[in-house]
Amino acid sequence: MSLPDHDNPPDLSTLSLSTPEPHQEAEPEPEPEAEAGTEAGAELLPHRSHDPLTNLKRTDPFKFGSRYLSPQDNIYEFNAWDHVTPDSAFEHYAASQYAFQSSHPVSAYDATRFNTHPEKWWNKFYANNTSNFFKDRKWLQQEFPILKEVTKRGVGRKVVLEVGAGAGNTAFPILKANANEELMVHAVDFSERAVEIIRGDGQYDERYVKASVWDVASTEGLPEGVEEGSVDVVVMVFMFSALSPEQWERAVANVWRCLKEGGEVCFRDYGKGDLTQVRFKRERLLEGRFYVRGDGTRVYFFEEEELRRIWGNEAAKTDVGDEAVERTKGEASEEPTATRNGFSKIDGDVVNGTIAETKGNPDDPSPTSKHAFEIVSLGVDRRMLVNRQKQLKMYRCWIQGHFRKPYAFPPK
Ligand SMILES: C[S@@+](CC[C@H](N)C(=O)[O-])C[C@H]1O[C@@H](n2cnc3c(N)ncnc32)[C@H](O)[C@@H]1O
Repeated sequence: MSLPDHDNPPDLSTLSLSTPEPHQEAEPEPEPEAEAGTEAGAELLPHRSHDPLTNLKRTDPFKFGSRYLSPQDNIYEFNAWDHVTPDSAFEHYAASQYAFQSSHPVSAYDATRFNTHPEKWWNKFYANNTSNFFKDRKWLQQEFPILKEVTKRGVGRKVVLEVGAGAGNTAFPILKANANEELMVHAVDFSERAVEIIRGDGQYDERYVKASVWDVASTEGLPEGVEEGSVDVVVMVFMFSALSPEQWERAVANVWRCLKEGGEVCFRDYGKGDLTQVRFKRERLLEGRFYVRGDGTRVYFFEEEELRRIWGNEAAKTDVGDEAVERTKGEASEEPTATRNGFSKIDGDVVNGTIAETKGNPDDPSPTSKHAFEIVSLGVDRRMLVNRQKQLKMYRCWIQGHFRKPYAFPPK
């Protein structure tokens, strides 16, 4: 069920990245990671990925930036490289794919089918995929040091909320590494089937973990047992991409409500141009960069700036994706894309592909511009995976971030 992952700009040296994904994609698996230390006698620069000192085994927590590709490298010598921007052949392929996808979008009938009860499709997914969920996510604490902090012995009561917890791929590794007797992990998902899988797991211990059904875009309150302003850390791993653009604001507002002031969000998701986006065929595009997979589950591919707007100080003015904006502009006689594709808007109107400013209602926890998280870090993580046997290059792209709910009155 899991694929390998990830890269970043230079100022993101704190990100190290090596995230497996939860969702099986139809693509060739790369060969197993090459063993380090095979180049006896060769003089290697420290940054070279096949330097035995820096090239890690697949089982090691991957250290961000340790596998640079340099011009003298034979790309098929190893099966993964970091910081690789796609070559022009891939860029051309991607551009032609996007054009094809846009000219063959999902039918209005299917869009309604997939958008109306998305949890139904995730329930099916979890009913059909009962095993192979668990991967030892050793990278979690490395990428998100806050998770190390809250699981230390003696740090006192700490509350972690994992949103879109799926089968527990993140919650259980957190618990496994936990030494804090007072830790509580709330693992929530809107798929009842996913929650059942977590509850049925041998590692499920209600002293430290509680799984419950919750829709992060819900207008009906917070997860069971979670008080407003009580959570120290929210974890969202490959979860936000499952939401439609119309749900983003509500989701951000709900996360805001759950968190304490100073509380943090650990975020990882798909980036624009990831091979899995480029590969989508006809009748998979819902809108913008939002697609539906063959199994009916939906997935969005983010840009860094877009996430800054969603989570940062412009959370109430969210683009639905540049491609959608272009399409909507060019189709003045048709309904806006979002409406045409069967979404019901939560807040704001779609104007030329942009959701307009939300009108505030003091009794409604709907998003307003006050939900502006501090973007502690946010970066694109690119990796080129190589299938050496088939001489194939696979460009993967993820985005990882760390956001903080600011203090109303910063502590002195
Ligand atoms: C790609 S899976 C990721 C699962 C898990 N975070 C992981 O990394 O293995 C996305 C998860 O988000 C859940 N999900 C999608 N929309 C949701 C929503 N509105 N509220 C809560 N969970 C949701 C799905 O049921 C699914 O379990």
